[in-house]
Amino acid sequence: ELQAIIFDLDGVITDTAEYHYLAWKQLGEDVGVPFTREFNEELKGVSRMDSLEKILALGNKHNDFTADEKMSLAEKKNEHYVSLIQNISPTDILPKIEELIADIKKMGLKLGLASVSKNALAVMSSLGLKEQFDVIVDAATIKKGKPDPEIFLRAAELLNVDPKACIGIEDAAAGVDSIKGAGMFAVGVGSEQSLSKADIVYASTSELSLEKIIEVYNKIK
Ligand code: G6P
Ligand code: MG
Repeated sequence: ELQAIIFDLDGVITDTAEYHYLAWKQLGEDVGVPFTREFNEELKGVSRMDSLEKILALGNKHNDFTADEKMSLAEKKNEHYVSLIQNISPTDILPKIEELIADIKKMGLKLGLASVSKNALAVMSSLGLKEQFDVIVDAATIKKGKPDPEIFLRAAELLNVDPKACIGIEDAAAGVDSIKGAGMFAVGVGSEQSLSKADIVYASTSELSLEKIIEVYNKIK
């Protein structure tokens, strides 16, 4: 029996995935590693330092910087990102997300958030959604980021529900891996191609329907 829905934040609840992309793209250009949107799919859902390592590795530059230099590069990206999220407000919540949250509450299901972003709480407050969630697991409380299942497992544990009774919603391949690794049902939002491991994929949040998701969940379980 389904008990909880656990959301990713960036790229699912609001389009901050685009801001992460813009900030990393700029940083990549600054260090001489320009990259495509296709490569960016590999960064989605991945922690700040892991993202930087992936970019440097792409340009074969992972040995060109000291640990301190890497820290300042990551900080520079974050300052840029923070400037881009300055004016976020409830109008930036993606289509159908508020309806989905309302439906989840109406059904008596628990609501969780699993984001490895250190900016997650700030973004959730700006969106006016922080209070709606029963639990928010962010970078501060976990050891391993996505694709490791730790963050989704922790959310289930704090919600006091069996992972098998949870549905996770993600826009990132690393996030879908994390959900599936936790033994949960995965809803992907984005391209079928990059989210092929999800149990059901929607091209955008505007197509999300709790009724349909639960129907497929019940079929698979
Ligand atoms: C989320 C985003 C990633 C981002 C990560 C860390 O998972 O999908 O793109 O790199 O959070 O975010 P932070 O705000 O801590 O740099
Ligand atoms: Mg995401």
